[in-house]
Amino acid sequence: MKKDPFFIKKYPKWYPPRLVFTLQARLLEKEAKLNFQKYTLPKKIIPNLPQAPDVDYSNTSVTPIQMQHLLAALSATEHLKDTVVVEVGSYRGVTTQVIAKATSRRVIAVDPYIGYGGWEEDYRFFSKNTDGLSNVTHERKTSGEAARTWNYNPVSLVFIDALHDYVNTAFDIETWSSLLIKGGILAMHDTDQECFAGTRKAVFEFKNLGNQFAHPNNLTIFSVRGSKH
Ligand SMILES: C[S@@+](CC[C@H](N)C(=O)[O-])C[C@H]1O[C@@H](n2cnc3c(N)ncnc32)[C@H](O)[C@@H]1O
Repeated sequence: MKKDPFFIKKYPKWYPPRLVFTLQARLLEKEAKLNFQKYTLPKKIIPNLPQAPDVDYSNTSVTPIQMQHLLAALSATEHLKDTVVVEVGSYRGVTTQVIAKATSRRVIAVDPYIGYGGWEEDYRFFSKNTDGLSNVTHERKTSGEAARTWNYNPVSLVFIDALHDYVNTAFDIETWSSLLIKGGILAMHDTDQECFAGTRKAVFEFKNLGNQFAHPNNLTIFSVRGSKH
């Protein structure tokens, strides 16, 4: 089991296990940067994609072609009844809105808005962008807290777009893939940028647990065997 990087942050900085964890995290990040090319996964574009949604792309780093692939993943899992969709890292709620409007499933948006890329102002955008979408539930928690207190139906699609370093992405992948049902899909953002080399490494290590569903630039999507049901 991977350690929750946010759980370790509860201890003081000088606490030896936290110091060791931080040092290991930095070394892993360095190694990921050195081997960035080695961790490349093949690209895969899906034909006949759904139309790109007309949203405010200035408030998300997800591009129209990535949105189209997310919608394709959503559509491929829509038949999995009595399941939910999870977004880890919702920021201003643009992707949350797109996903929620395109599914009849409940969408659990996990984001604590405690810094680390998401602040109170971003939360205000999120609230506005998801206002009136009755199938959206916001869990104002970190990824690890939300998974530990999980009280929803099984998960059919997870979109991971939170902290883009190795320790957080690897933790998120391990944690949320364990909640996915058979035939479920795991999508991960920012997988092909050198500044997020750790994210690419984490995704590369996960590749044998599922089949590649799609891989437009910077978005890697796997269909996974799943451990639930
Ligand atoms: C890149 S943004 C998400 C963008 C969003 N998916 C979109 O495309 O519009 C990253 C978000 O992850 C959130 N975040 C950071 N650490 C997190 C954690 N441990 N668990 C859940 N969310 C986290 C931040 O608050 C921030 O809002």
